[in-house]
Amino acid sequence: MAQVLGHLPPVTDPNVLVGFDTSDDAAIYRLSPDLAAVQTVDLFPPVVDDPYHYGAIAAANSLSDVYAMGGRPVTALNIICYPGGSLSMEVLTQILKGSSDKIAEAGVSLVGGHTLEDPEPKYGLCVLGVVHPDKIVTNSGSRPGDLLVLTKPLGIGILTTALKADLLGEDAIARIVEVMERLNREAAEAMVEVGVNACTDITGFGLLGHLYEMAHGSGVCARVYASRVPVLHEVWPLVEERIVPSGTYANMEYLKDNIRWGEGVSKETQIVLCDAQTSGGLLISVSREKCDALLQALESRGVPERAVIGEILDQPSGVILVGS
Ligand code: CO
Ligand code: CO
Ligand code: CO
Repeated sequence: MAQVLGHLPPVTDPNVLVGFDTSDDAAIYRLSPDLAAVQTVDLFPPVVDDPYHYGAIAAANSLSDVYAMGGRPVTALNIICYPGGSLSMEVLTQILKGSSDKIAEAGVSLVGGHTLEDPEPKYGLCVLGVVHPDKIVTNSGSRPGDLLVLTKPLGIGILTTALKADLLGEDAIARIVEVMERLNREAAEAMVEVGVNACTDITGFGLLGHLYEMAHGSGVCARVYASRVPVLHEVWPLVEERIVPSGTYANMEYLKDNIRWGEGVSKETQIVLCDAQTSGGLLISVSREKCDALLQALESRGVPERAVIGEILDQPSGVILVGS
């Protein structure tokens, strides 16, 4: 993707505060000295069988990119690709019901959208958010000494792959739906209140892929302690059997020159740390002094996972050290 985007003309408008050059979660355009617009778009094919939950998950995922920038989403547009001839309209109604309930929970107004005929259904949102230009949280502000905090567990890619193969029980399905549907709003509010140096949300490139973008963009090196990373426990027997999405292996291949695996980090753990997520948590880079305040702010807002998983080091940039 970076190669393709490299052929696009460079952005020259000084009001474009965040463009596509730093692989950030959303674009930001300054409208006035104290107001900027946050723009993002995301859509994907169904990740669960239930259309209502699929819609809710897609909405939470799309809204997340605004939260990851420290923004507040205000309006959303539906993007619907749908095989009207082969799937009933009741299924689409349920997808949109799940999405609109999630959008309402977020306090966002659904104001329009676009539909096209497509043999494979896909759904997502184009979201507009607002942020004060001084409060933007990019993915490229990490500083040596920062601690890294993660707000959702890993393993969604492996578990949704198992779901497609009919290998998941009802409890596991309910658990991954709950994790993916959960808004990153509370986590974002906590980080904005405390003031942090960098943030991104964990999606298709996995924890280490998104951390690599953060480290590379910030010109720093990161260290992760694998045993401190929250993982959905149902993942382990599946990864032993190599029930793993192809995107996860692609992430490992893409990152291989930039990760130094420590002794004792098993192959299974390496796979999980690169697992492609849908609607994952926020990865926050916060100064050591403010970390306790962030953890308290997350706890007081009921964010269930708030794990300190690593730190930023003053070493060659873009490298990720993984210890056990
Ligand atoms: Co993102
Ligand atoms: Co995105
Ligand atoms: Co960000």
